[in-house]
Order: sequence, then structure tokens, then C-alpha cells
Amino acid sequence: MAAVIGQGSVVIDATVGNGHDTVFLAKRVGAEGKVFGFDIQEEALAKTRLLLDQEELRERVRLIRANHTDMADHLSHETRGEVRAIMFNLGYLPGGDKSLITKPGDTIDALKAAYSLLRPGGIITIVCYRGHPGGCQEYIAVGDWASSLYTKESIVECAEIPQNQKSKSAPLLFIIEKTKE
Ligand SMILES: C[S@@+](CC[C@H](N)C(=O)[O-])C[C@H]1O[C@@H](n2cnc3c(N)ncnc32)[C@H](O)[C@@H]1O
Repeated sequence: MAAVIGQGSVVIDATVGNGHDTVFLAKRVGAEGKVFGFDIQEEALAKTRLLLDQEELRERVRLIRANHTDMADHLSHETRGEVRAIMFNLGYLPGGDKSLITKPGDTIDALKAAYSLLRPGGIITIVCYRGHPGGCQEYIAVGDWASSLYTKESIVECAEIPQNQKSKSAPLLFIIEKTKE
């Protein structure tokens, strides 16, 4: 992410949660850039607002309470196709209601929408968690969708995220680069 996002970039945080990724993105895009942040929970957006205020980064971020499947509706026509990076950190809100999770059907629809918004050279990152109910099915759905992109137009990589404790269900990171329109 850090390698592709520059000053003035337009980027999307598809799952704002507690706001840590949103803050990272807001720092990277600089004062001229823009972050669009989506979450279905007001609690997540409120926590993120607080964090952004503390860091004096609110101006660069538009927080939107919506399903990320609808992300394209919130971007201007000029911005569509110009997004440099889109981050998905799936699962539930840490410290929040664990029954409110990302679901495979919506996640795949949102990934398709995200892919269409990317500019050439832009990337999508997806972190999948497999430890909670439904997490494994979601990871399989994401993997299937990512595999369908193994064409000349994109590069797909997948890696386990190392954890301190040994675990059979380490989170997985997918990185998708759109190389051409
Ligand atoms: C693992 S958390 C994200 C962590 C966050 N990126 C951070 O830095 O703290 C996942 C978030 O996805 C949100 N979420 C679940 N389904 C969603 C959907 N369909 N559209 C947008 N956000 C969704 C949850 O409310 C939750 O806050």
C-alpha cells in the first residue's frame, strides 16, 4: 500500500472498523488526497472520527455509513477508474458486536465494484480471517474470485500473515494489482 499510494491519491477503506487503517491511508494520501471510508456500523465510524480528530486528519477523509457493495455510488464519475488503492479488512469489529461480520456474497460484490474503480497500477488488499464462524467460507470465496483474475490484466498474490502464537487459522492477505484497464 505504502509503495503505491502517493500524495494526492484517492483511496478507499472498505471496512473502516476502529479506524487504524483509515488513519494509515489518510497519512499516506497527504493534504491533497482523499480517503473514502465505509462501514455499516455507526459505532465504527464514531471511533474512526475520534481517531482522525486526534491526528488532525478529518479533512482528508469522507466517512460513509453504507454497505461497501454500494461504494461506487458515493464516488463522482471523474473519480471512478482513478482509485489508487482499496483496502478490505474482513470479519467483525474488534471489541464490538461479533455477529456483525462481512459476508461472502456482499464481499464478492464489493470486490467486483472495487476492481472496476481502480486505475491501472492500482491495488486491492484483502485480509481474510478464518477463526470465526463463516470466516473460512469467506476466505474460499475471496480466493476463488482472486483466482479468476489470473489474467494478463492483473497480478494476484496471497500470503499468510505471521502471528506470534502458532495457529492453524492465521489471517491471509491477498494483494491484487490491476496492471491494465
Ligand atoms: C475487521 S473490522 C475492520 C478493521 C479496521 N480496518 C481497522 O483498522 O480497525 C471489519 C469491519 O467491517 C465492517 N463491515 C461488515 N460488513 C460490512 C459491509 N457489508 N460493508 C461495510 N463494512 C462492513 C464491520 O462493521 C467492521 O467494523
